[in-house]
Amino acid sequence: MPVPVTGNVPLSSNYRRMKQRIYLDNSATTQMDAIVLESMLPYFREDFGNASSVHIFGQEARGAVENARRSVADLLCADTKEIVFTSGGTEADNSALWGVFRSGYRAGNHIITTKIEHPAILETCRSLERAGAEISYVPVDSSGRADPAAIENSIREETILISVMHANNETGIIQPIEEISALAKQHNILMHTDAVQTVGKIPLKVNPLGIDLLSMSAHKIHGPKGVGVLYIKKGTKFMPFMTGGSHERKRRAGTENVPSIVGLGTAARLAGERLPEMSSRIAGLLDHFQSSIIDHIPGVRINGNAPRLPNITNLSFESLEGEAAVIALDLEGLAVSTGSACASGSLDPSHVLIAMGLRPDVVQSSLRFSLCYHNTEEEIERAVQILHSVLKRLRKFSKKNWG
Ligand SMILES: Cc1ncc(COP(=O)(O)O)c(C=O)c1O
Repeated sequence: MPVPVTGNVPLSSNYRRMKQRIYLDNSATTQMDAIVLESMLPYFREDFGNASSVHIFGQEARGAVENARRSVADLLCADTKEIVFTSGGTEADNSALWGVFRSGYRAGNHIITTKIEHPAILETCRSLERAGAEISYVPVDSSGRADPAAIENSIREETILISVMHANNETGIIQPIEEISALAKQHNILMHTDAVQTVGKIPLKVNPLGIDLLSMSAHKIHGPKGVGVLYIKKGTKFMPFMTGGSHERKRRAGTENVPSIVGLGTAARLAGERLPEMSSRIAGLLDHFQSSIIDHIPGVRINGNAPRLPNITNLSFESLEGEAAVIALDLEGLAVSTGSACASGSLDPSHVLIAMGLRPDVVQSSLRFSLCYHNTEEEIERAVQILHSVLKRLRKFSKKNWG
């Protein structure tokens, strides 16, 4: 039987079974909000116009895209002209780096970034190196933070851009972006931040942050996958990464993905409305989760010791193999990860924890837990119980006697 496309939100066949499961992997992606989905549906059906068309169908689509742009601009405290829709955080990151590198905004080929960035930045830097860029990968300290002094020491005559993530996706540690932006400004260098994990999680205003470019993604804030934003401060010299038509004020060619952009706009509006209440509730749940684990499970350490996002913690469990634990926990109905979803499936240890100087065995035994406002106290209690019993079982195979 076809899935109904009118009326209420269609449910997948295993939705109820999934409901029994506990999802603590919200940094990988979040469940789309039902209000977001409802707002998107008309734009797949009757309001299907191309936002560049002159006729009424096009005008309807254009209106929807511009409303979404307003919602995103409001969330970031930006101007609507500074919002460029992309196909997600990865494209926004690629576009920011290539867009500045190719802009010729000043003579130079040097970019500064950190060792703990998401692959969307690190792999783009590798491509830029092949195209003649020089990149400094600044280390972080054991707390997981980049030191502004280390960034300053890397600045050269030829430095054109500094790109440092707002908060790390594996540890949740927040980076000192305001301080780094101030340095960039002093030296007339552009500043980009990957804020994919922070938008909607902590208050964020582009001007006080002092950045020129910022990346965000809809699916981390209960919006659809495959849509995001590159914020480009007014007056920033930028050469488009995607070329073609004159969409998005000639900064990103391609017919706008109207339903997804509408979904992103709704998700941004909801994130802004919910942020104050939700971030304190999530922080309370995470604190409770973390302290219950520490109280009930021996041999645990918290990775990263600096201000962090309210929804992410990264813990290492002595004598545990992280990947084996993810599978065992999943079988018991608890979804977590060992780090970035983009790195899952590869058995490479976390480049983030390695950059923080953790021992290889501590890195291999780490798990990331990331919460959202759908999580309940009851789920948190159950998650701790599941962890406790799975760990007990897995640790039986270790050399150490865990009792
Ligand atoms: C910090 C960070 N940057 C970029 C991305 C990529 O975003 P997207 O999945 O929208 O391409 C992610 C996704 O996990 C992320 O966590």
